[in-house]
Amino acid sequence: MEQQRPLYYADYLHLSTILAAQIPRSGQMWEYQRPQRTAEGQLIDIAYAAHDEMLFIITHQAYELWFKQILHELEAVLHIFSQNPIPEHDVAKALHHLERIVAIGPILFQQIDVLETMTPMDFLDFRNVLYPASGFQSVQFRLIEIKLGLTREQRVLTHMPLSPEDKLRIEHAEHQPSLFSLVELWLERMPFIQKPSYSFWQEYQQAVERMFAHERAMIQDNAAMSAHDIQTLLAQTDMNEQSFRAFFDEEHYESLRKRGLRRLSFRASQAALFILLYREYPMLHLPFRLLQALIAIDENFSVWRYRHAQMAMRMIGTKVGTGGSSGFEYLMKATAQHRIFSDFSALSAFLIPRSSLPPLPQEIASMLTFVYIERQEQELRAAKDRAASEYVKTQLHHHFPDGFLMDEQYAHGVYELYYTFPDEESVRHALAFITPLLDAMSAEYNAHVRVHAIPVHAASSIHSIP
Ligand code: HEM
Repeated sequence: MEQQRPLYYADYLHLSTILAAQIPRSGQMWEYQRPQRTAEGQLIDIAYAAHDEMLFIITHQAYELWFKQILHELEAVLHIFSQNPIPEHDVAKALHHLERIVAIGPILFQQIDVLETMTPMDFLDFRNVLYPASGFQSVQFRLIEIKLGLTREQRVLTHMPLSPEDKLRIEHAEHQPSLFSLVELWLERMPFIQKPSYSFWQEYQQAVERMFAHERAMIQDNAAMSAHDIQTLLAQTDMNEQSFRAFFDEEHYESLRKRGLRRLSFRASQAALFILLYREYPMLHLPFRLLQALIAIDENFSVWRYRHAQMAMRMIGTKVGTGGSSGFEYLMKATAQHRIFSDFSALSAFLIPRSSLPPLPQEIASMLTFVYIERQEQELRAAKDRAASEYVKTQLHHHFPDGFLMDEQYAHGVYELYYTFPDEESVRHALAFITPLLDAMSAEYNAHVRVHAIPVHAASSIHSIP
């Protein structure tokens, strides 16, 4: 029998392929042939490879590997969020994937530090060989942007100098639901905020009104302030309240959306705000962390874009990029414009202090706590035990009309029934009758009933079953 070769590190990782993939162009191009003299003094052309091109290639390749990992995580999250409803434990899994993407962020920033050890002159040694290729053509980067939720309309530049196959990949991704749209739908489906007996939006608006009324009263009653300062502060409070009012007005909100100033739907914004305000409730904690992860991912990409733009400025100044864009100017515009989850961070403007936050009605609060489930179970068990005890009482009453129910109690999950019977003999009969019944109820329905029987003429001897 042929013995299988043990797995070898280099084979598993395909190192021969990966490590053979750093091929500087500067050593191959005719303009990098420099005349040099041989030992005999003869002039010859030798290929000249720019030392830092290796760093440039390896950095880009490392980025592409991490982009691949990010896409891998993102695909898993998209898969989870395309379900309706999304099982609760899947939300935890999605959060785990997103938190990994957040953790990759610093690796992406740090690589810029390493690349910046290359000076602009070192870069000039090989920049010419790069035309017209550019990071602008990174399909994986584009796919991450699209899958997160960047839209074509949002882009500073829609023209992408890509191969026909890569263009197809991009177009295909653009037609799939993005994480932004799936999270938006998930938020819109969130129960709790609107019930027949409770409207979060109404309660929140009233709380905001009370908060501003309180703020105004505090300003007006402040004897230490001049009349002028009081007027200035009151005017500021008015302005703050105006921005809240604009947020309350659905029509106004929709007009902002039409102008591209808001993206998240009105309903999803309300749900997100509810999560941010009441995140201490266990049921909201996971959604809260999920929103935080989305904000952090958006922030990380923004930081990366900014640092990359600064690096471009440092390396090439205001020259146009090798990909044909305006270079630094384009990169800075994209940093400001290519944000995806900024609506979530913008909600911070509408948070109100805990002291002004209306407490949730019991009905909603109990839905949002894990204790709720435990309590429900306890109530269910108690109802079952009560029903079983009623049955036992009916049976005893029917078969032993001489028995008298003195007391009944429900304690520590057991229904206790206290009976008296005329004498020892009727106690024995009653217990002989009831014991198999109690055993059967306990085995079959897990119902907990205990019967205590006392003969009235011998009150000292209590018989308990079971
Ligand atoms: C010397 C270092 C670098 C310089 C001077 C530089 C410069 C530029 C410039 C000027 C652009 C704008 C597009 C163009 O016209 O070419 C660009 C785009 C881009 N570069 Fe770099 N880059 C450098 C390193 C990197 C690295 C290491 C990566 C990692 C993958 C990268 C990824 C990108 C991406 C993804 C874009 C598209 C950004 C967007 O469209 O929002 N660049 N780069």
